[in-house]
Amino acid sequence: MRFSINQIKELKRKGEKFAMVTAYDYATARIVDEVGLPLILVGDSLGNVVLGYESTIPVTMEDMLHHTRAVVRGTKNALIVGDLPFMTYQISVEEALRNAGRFIQEGGAQAVKLEGGVTVAEKVKRIVDAGIPVMGHIGLTPQSVNQLGGYKIQGKTPDAARKLLDDAVALEQAGAFSVVLETVPAPLASLITRKLNIPTIGIGGGSGCDGQVQVINDILGFTTGFVPRHAKQYASLSDIIKNAVASYQKEVKEGVFPTEKESFTMDESILSDLE
Ligand code: KIV
Repeated sequence: MRFSINQIKELKRKGEKFAMVTAYDYATARIVDEVGLPLILVGDSLGNVVLGYESTIPVTMEDMLHHTRAVVRGTKNALIVGDLPFMTYQISVEEALRNAGRFIQEGGAQAVKLEGGVTVAEKVKRIVDAGIPVMGHIGLTPQSVNQLGGYKIQGKTPDAARKLLDDAVALEQAGAFSVVLETVPAPLASLITRKLNIPTIGIGGGSGCDGQVQVINDILGFTTGFVPRHAKQYASLSDIIKNAVASYQKEVKEGVFPTEKESFTMDESILSDLE
């Protein structure tokens, strides 16, 4: 049985911190799900860490559905959140609703995430009214990187801090079940967390948030490019993979692999006939 949005909200009421990670494929999702995280996000960070784009902007609905289905197939405990990619919810309420519905109907996700606050509140309300749980995402919203002028900390001026609080409240009022706070000063994230009844999930938002989210490749040390300051590396998967593949290559070149153990035999008489 998967976690429900009510159980996620209950974690905040009980003051229990929780962790969420991204996943993009069946194998990783399966391992992550065995740990027992309540939430897994199929993030559009897929674009950066899996598809090799410089930003999340080129990611399409079809990319997201393809990877969401794989993650859903690999999990049975976590609530799976599908990330609405750029330009799939900005144009109209109808498009937002249709694409959110595709994540549930075609992708098998249990919830969707979208970026923005006050400006997307009406869309959030309509999606929630249609029976689809929504996770908000404010602060550093990567789909708006060109508008923000880079991947910078958000909410540092009085106006920007007030706007972030207003955005968070608007999302809660629209019916979102949680909200991601990305790259915002820790004291502001704590204040927003205290003001909301729904859980906040920080990524570069400090320890005062109700939950934390990280990109799985960042925490596993499986990233080839830039690693954000908020990410702590819990393993060095790139080194492990590099060493394993190098050993394999060396053994193949030296004729050490494969051995009899990795090979198959057959009846000698069949071979003699062929000779
Ligand atoms: O796409 C993503 O991985 C995200 C998280 C960083 C919150 O939106």
